[in-house]
Amino acid sequence: MKETLERIRREALEALEQTGAAQDLDALRVKYLGKKGELTAVLKQMGRLSAEERPAMGQLANEVRAAVETALESRARKLEAAALEAKLRLEAVDVTIPGEEPVLGHKHPMYIALDEIKDIFVGMGFTVLDGTEVELAEYNFDKLNAEEGHPSRDWSDTFYFDTDSRVMLRSQTSPMQVHAMETMELPIRILAPGRVYRKDEVDATHSPMFHQVEGMAIDKGITMADLKGTLNAVMEQLFGKGTVTRFRPHHFPFTEPSCEMDVQCHKCGGAGCPTCKGEGWIEVLGAGMIHPHVLEMAGIDPEVYSGWAFGMGLERLAMRRFKIADLRLIFENDTRFLEQF
Ligand code: PHE
Repeated sequence: MKETLERIRREALEALEQTGAAQDLDALRVKYLGKKGELTAVLKQMGRLSAEERPAMGQLANEVRAAVETALESRARKLEAAALEAKLRLEAVDVTIPGEEPVLGHKHPMYIALDEIKDIFVGMGFTVLDGTEVELAEYNFDKLNAEEGHPSRDWSDTFYFDTDSRVMLRSQTSPMQVHAMETMELPIRILAPGRVYRKDEVDATHSPMFHQVEGMAIDKGITMADLKGTLNAVMEQLFGKGTVTRFRPHHFPFTEPSCEMDVQCHKCGGAGCPTCKGEGWIEVLGAGMIHPHVLEMAGIDPEVYSGWAFGMGLERLAMRRFKIADLRLIFENDTRFLEQF
């Protein structure tokens, strides 16, 4: 029996020394110390020993058990420490390794121009409005004095959603004039940028989708002088001090009188060059005094209030601002192009 106990001790300690995994330790614990384990099997035979032999054997058996238990514990601790060590090594971060630089996008040139325009108008007390691109023909046309039969309502120019031409993609941002008049308290000063749609073929200066910026001011005693003064101040901020403008008579159904505003070519100073196509002037926007009937339809008394409005093409403005020759570059979103601004 003594030999058996010694053998168990030897074998158990050896086996423990060689285990590399925690679950193997459990198996060894069962094998040597478990209820059906080897040590227990030996203890069961103690009854067969003589009374003199028994205490010594009992003591030895206890020693073996204690030795195996201690070895189990220390092995478990060692394995745990090794596992932690390995985990730490695996998860170690070397903060000295150069990082991967994320590619940052940046603002589109057209939105750089728009933000400048917004800043200027907000500084003058205007509120920036967002409008829907799907619009009722009533707002895009009727309430802007372009009644049934007006050429701009033609199917060949406008994207309608229905056969009775009631719902459409707005062809101008001017319906925002009416929305503002119907919903806002007087006096009103608004700027409404956004997308508009027309059935145009794509070329260097046309696109079926483009952007306009609508501006409008309504108050008591507003005159054409306010329109010219405001727009001149805005153009000086956009294109530099001393920028020269010109107002030419024009026609829009919802303004009376109406005009178009040109800016004298900054490249040639009016002499004519490729930038202004030899004209000396560059068309920037359409504008005018809001037609009394338009005010009336929106419930504003034209005898008490008057106002001006303008609408400008944003792409053209950005093209001029950044000297971009082809409108298509604005929409293609080729990063090699966009990164230049
Ligand atoms: N909506 C007009 C256009 O698209 C521009 C405009 C706006 C003219 C406001 C006068 C007043 O051409």
